[in-house]
Amino acid sequence: MIKGKNIVLGITGSIAAYKSADITSQLVKLGANVTVIMTKSATRFISPLTFQTICKNKVITDIFEAPSSFDVEHISLADKSDIFLIAPATANIIGKIACGIADDFLTTFAVACKSPILIAPTMNERMYLNPILQENIKKLKEIYGAHFIEPEKGRLACGEKGLGRLASVDKIIAAIEDILSSSDILRGKKILVTAGGTCEPIDPIRYIGNRSSGKMGYALSVAAKEFGAEVILISAPTQLESPPGIKTIFVETAAQMREEVLKAFPEVDIVISAAAVADFSPQKVSTQKIKKTTKDSFTLKLNKNPDILAELGRKKGNKILVGFAAESENLIPNAKKKLKEKNLDLIVANDIKTGFGKDTTQVTIIAKDGRCEELPLLSKKEVAVRILKELIGV
Ligand code: PMT
Repeated sequence: MIKGKNIVLGITGSIAAYKSADITSQLVKLGANVTVIMTKSATRFISPLTFQTICKNKVITDIFEAPSSFDVEHISLADKSDIFLIAPATANIIGKIACGIADDFLTTFAVACKSPILIAPTMNERMYLNPILQENIKKLKEIYGAHFIEPEKGRLACGEKGLGRLASVDKIIAAIEDILSSSDILRGKKILVTAGGTCEPIDPIRYIGNRSSGKMGYALSVAAKEFGAEVILISAPTQLESPPGIKTIFVETAAQMREEVLKAFPEVDIVISAAAVADFSPQKVSTQKIKKTTKDSFTLKLNKNPDILAELGRKKGNKILVGFAAESENLIPNAKKKLKEKNLDLIVANDIKTGFGKDTTQVTIIAKDGRCEELPLLSKKEVAVRILKELIGV
């Protein structure tokens, strides 16, 4: 998978920078076209000439060098990059990218980069375990969908032993292969993802809602795009930013979600329904704010909403349908029941205590052929990747 790929290698100011020469050499031997970007401090550990000799491309060390052509270099490089590897990655560069700082070529490229990013942290164990650094790593995983390759235990430059050595070249190459191989597995496929919790109005200011944050659905849409799919995201109200490069349609109510799903359904290959769709809506929506009365109680009549996913299941043809089951008890039996009743290919079972609103979740993926895989507590991005990989097996 590496042959013919454009790999951008970012090198930062760590003693491990010398190992990047071996990484570059291995990638070139595997047929990659490697472009190296070095921070100023990296050039104090190893000369740019070393990399220029190995990869036969100009090494970029400063955003303000005269561009070789009139296309703005960091944008054109970002357009052709298939993967952006930062190895070694210091605490400083991780923090700067997590905060959107773009004060040199490498951080500017990171902001412009649209390809998958693989980061190999390298530092003293105490720095690596620093809570702010760990928060920056979490942020990059969630916002950029960045992949990280854990540092290894061993003797560190400072003489201490511990976690913090740059991962081995073999592990880094294997991680690149894995990312590149998965970046094409859904190419040519059109995927519809629903996300968030619908809001069913009672009057102009009140509604019936639920605790869905949309994070699971948004993670699925980002992962699907990374796997090469064309993604349509239909989102109920959330606090989340629209994922870059993904067509997002905003709805409020279950009825509006149904309308948009049915509109998109004929043109997609796969539907993943992660939205928490209201099963009931107020029978009557008041045009005026409902005033308090002297009575101690108030009756709100509700109507049942159509089950969107079940409706798709009745006309699925050869499309792939993936649903979620949010249960408070009898998780697996209830999920299997929904898998069958809605004529799904996969259902993702999650207990309502673990999934709603959180950055992580614990799910069990159940396929219609009986395969059942219980995952550990993972980030929703990692769960999304596992669901998509499972779906390819469908
Ligand atoms: O959004 P987050 O905060 O990240 O939380 C994620 C989640 C917990 C919302 C998600 O993991 C999840 O469980 N989503 C489905 C919630 C839900 O409505 O589950 P359900 O068991 O009630 O519905 C079963 C399936 O039918 C779901 O795929 C749902 O999208 C779909 N459905 C439900 C009702 C309805 N009227 N139409 C539907 O299509």
